[in-house]
Amino acid sequence: MNSQIPIYPEPYWRDPNPFPEFPNLKEDLKTDVVVVGAGIAGITTAYLLAKEGKNIILVDAGRVGNGTTGHTTAKITAQHDVIYDELIQHFGTAEAESYYLANMSAKKFIENTIHQLAIDCDFKQEDAYLYTIDDANKAKLETEAKAYQTLGIKGSYMDKLPLELGEKAGLVMPSQARFHPLRYLQKLLDEFVSLGGKVFENTTVVDIEEGHHPTVITRENLKITCQDVVLCTHFPCYDKGAFFARLHADRSYVLAIKPEKVYPGGMYLSIDSPATRSLREVTINGEQHVLVGGQSHKTGKGVCTMQHYEVLEQFARDTFGIKAYLYRWSAQDLITLDKVPYIGRMTEKHRNIYIATGFRKWGMSHSTISALLITDLIMERPNPYEKLYTPSRFQADPSLRNAVVQNLDVAGTLLAGKVGLTFKEPKDLAKDEGAVVMVDGQRCGGYRDSDGDLHIVDSTCTHMGCEVEWNHGDRTWDCPCHGSRFSTDGEVIEGPAERPLGKVALEVEQR
Ligand code: FES
Repeated sequence: MNSQIPIYPEPYWRDPNPFPEFPNLKEDLKTDVVVVGAGIAGITTAYLLAKEGKNIILVDAGRVGNGTTGHTTAKITAQHDVIYDELIQHFGTAEAESYYLANMSAKKFIENTIHQLAIDCDFKQEDAYLYTIDDANKAKLETEAKAYQTLGIKGSYMDKLPLELGEKAGLVMPSQARFHPLRYLQKLLDEFVSLGGKVFENTTVVDIEEGHHPTVITRENLKITCQDVVLCTHFPCYDKGAFFARLHADRSYVLAIKPEKVYPGGMYLSIDSPATRSLREVTINGEQHVLVGGQSHKTGKGVCTMQHYEVLEQFARDTFGIKAYLYRWSAQDLITLDKVPYIGRMTEKHRNIYIATGFRKWGMSHSTISALLITDLIMERPNPYEKLYTPSRFQADPSLRNAVVQNLDVAGTLLAGKVGLTFKEPKDLAKDEGAVVMVDGQRCGGYRDSDGDLHIVDSTCTHMGCEVEWNHGDRTWDCPCHGSRFSTDGEVIEGPAERPLGKVALEVEQR
């Protein structure tokens, strides 16, 4: 068994990749609905609409299930950190209750679907716990416990957790769940295809011609004309709602380890910032393992990303002891100004273009809410959660404060531009080292691979011109503004950027 943190990132869920390959789009087509983005939100939406008798085309810029869904910890829960007191303050009691009910109904939908389709996906009901190891944060949990009471949420404040974590206090929400997300989606995708749905991979949508019959346009200038478009692309790949100013990206890290001590079950999340910790059990090869997550930070801002894994490793070692490491991976989450996702019609004016984004770290339930809600909108049925999640809402508070902070941050990154401070020469890069480098007076991104070959890219993000930063944990270039990510050769791994980073040629003496 491996006793070191794995060198290269790979999520357990994709080992092996459970999905068949699908072709890329090769001709213009017509359909009822185009769903863009084949993660849990896109696949569930496509499946539900196909069940309604709609003709659906599902497209993805990469491979099915390889985005955020493939990098989750796959907790299905309505316990989203401390959120309910904040929701009551900013949205009112009725909307805060709606938020809880929406998430619990998503959990119920997943559970029912697993039973109906007999899906073997390691689904297990578990209690969810928030906790703090800091006396100063006990009051936050007490306030959240009161919000639970106000909203009729089952759960209670506690002094002691089932797992010893050095806790000063905890808050349980019983009967939540966890599963293997890609095994679940594999069956939904099979059902979708058997209902006549079409899937195209490696098909990047770059534009939409709006109208009564909108047309989705791909990078190869192929067109799919339809009645409705649903964008489940994490960051919307077509932005007419100023989402670039209303979302920011966070990264966090996960280690899959085999513990020395027996893990007692339960899903745990610390509320202590910045030392967030997330725990859940997972069965790998019939044996108990633990997913240890945390170390969230804004994308492209932070220390060398490998250090985050090392901090989690130390935490796991102190908590359970480690017999072996199996996997490591990182996740990127998008967060809205008021922490509630944007789900529904993109704007009041765009009646047949829908988006689902900003799930924070709670993509399993919020993706499912998106699929149920958008299906109802397309089928012209009422949905009780339409108002809460509408993307065109404007909550002045706390949006305003957060917007100012986030936008200052983005503005700072834009202004920093090419006048960064710290530059190496490309020839100084060691094997498997990446860094911002100076080439002919220009700020560039450089990476020397393990064969010694250099890969130099223009470090200006092709979305809106921020400067990308090196992520050594994943060997990627990450943009701090809206979370685009690029390979060492500049290819887009994750949008909103659609075009690769420019390649930079080097003279022999610069290598
Ligand atoms: Fe928007 Fe890079 S993702 S500028």
